[in-house]
Amino acid sequence: MVEMMPLWSEEMSWIPMNDLTREPEPLRRAMTEAVERVISSGSYVLDREVERFERSWAERCGVRFGVGVGNGMDALEIALQALGIGPGDEVIVPAMTAFASVLAVIRAGATPVLADIDEETALLSLESVRRVISGRSRALMVVHLYGRLERMNAWVSFCHDHGLVLIEDCAQAHLASRNGAVAGSFGRVGAFSFYPTKNLGALGDAGMLITDDETIARKARQWRDYGRSVSGGSGLHLVAGLNSRLDELQAALLSARLPWLEGFNAARRAIAMLYAQGIHHPGVRLPPMPEESDSHVHHLFVVNSPQRDALQTHLNHCGVKTGSHYPLPVHWHPACGNPPRDPLGLRRAERHAESCLSLPCHPFLEGYEVERVVDSINRFIFTRGATP
Ligand SMILES: Cc1ncc(COP(=O)(O)O)c(C=O)c1O
Repeated sequence: MVEMMPLWSEEMSWIPMNDLTREPEPLRRAMTEAVERVISSGSYVLDREVERFERSWAERCGVRFGVGVGNGMDALEIALQALGIGPGDEVIVPAMTAFASVLAVIRAGATPVLADIDEETALLSLESVRRVISGRSRALMVVHLYGRLERMNAWVSFCHDHGLVLIEDCAQAHLASRNGAVAGSFGRVGAFSFYPTKNLGALGDAGMLITDDETIARKARQWRDYGRSVSGGSGLHLVAGLNSRLDELQAALLSARLPWLEGFNAARRAIAMLYAQGIHHPGVRLPPMPEESDSHVHHLFVVNSPQRDALQTHLNHCGVKTGSHYPLPVHWHPACGNPPRDPLGLRRAERHAESCLSLPCHPFLEGYEVERVVDSINRFIFTRGATP
């Protein structure tokens, strides 16, 4: 039987979801120089490297201010705090996202209100959002899941019409753009994670929020540093803030990595295109390819199959590592409690969680590896009956 013929043997290497050991030598040298520069400076927290990277990332995203923080979740929480959103306020979030998106809302003391997703893209559904708006809704968090930037003009005008603050969770969408406008520049605030496996990743945890609003930037600088006043050197603690500062080492490393980002995004796009062209299987649904290639940076390439677990086992048997983003919708996590949600339910997010499978899509995949992933999927024996 075809299925019993392993495509992978012990002599061949695994195809991993990510492999940072394959990064190019010139990039490694640039990172080593960055580390040496920081060590020579003798200054390790909130100094010139942080300011430099804040400036260059904000500029690259087309906004005025960047505030470096400890990680992507803190960037979201601090954004909410700086916006004055907290107890008694509702923030609309998608039911399919990293749990951190929702946890940030909970930690800010606000109430997450869960909306369902569009089946095709797995992004927030406008119809569902319309059903969950209430008099307490203060903000809408759009998550550019998997690196896809969609419907931004619609979200901007929707928020404008309903008096909502638009917050972009850009943790998976570094430099995704639409008509030249970059992820993070559409909303009042954009929040980034630079977790190592992100499209732009540090060598540890790091994050940033970006904004055009000077007051929000100032308040965010306070919140990240114990709530300490940032003007006048008074040292007064104005709010009960966090300790969430981007350190000099991570900022210097991110500056060294930034010039490589566009090339890495292009490599991810090329892999996504090969998957889209090569995978033909009646039991596997591919994500729709975007109208404009720049609008998607393919942080993850996610397919859906009603036999996801069997497909994952099959791919593992073929030496292909896969993931699931995310295996549970947010409301199935006990930490979420029982948040308000779409009165029609969150069925599409639930179905997505049960059927999604992330394929390797990192920029250092070799052509033969992409072919092996494609071949392995096309050889999957699917039990007919269920539609993907
Ligand atoms: C969509 C999304 N939001 C928020 C986060 C949180 O980022 P971090 O891990 O840097 O806190 C992540 C990271 O996994 C993410 O993917």
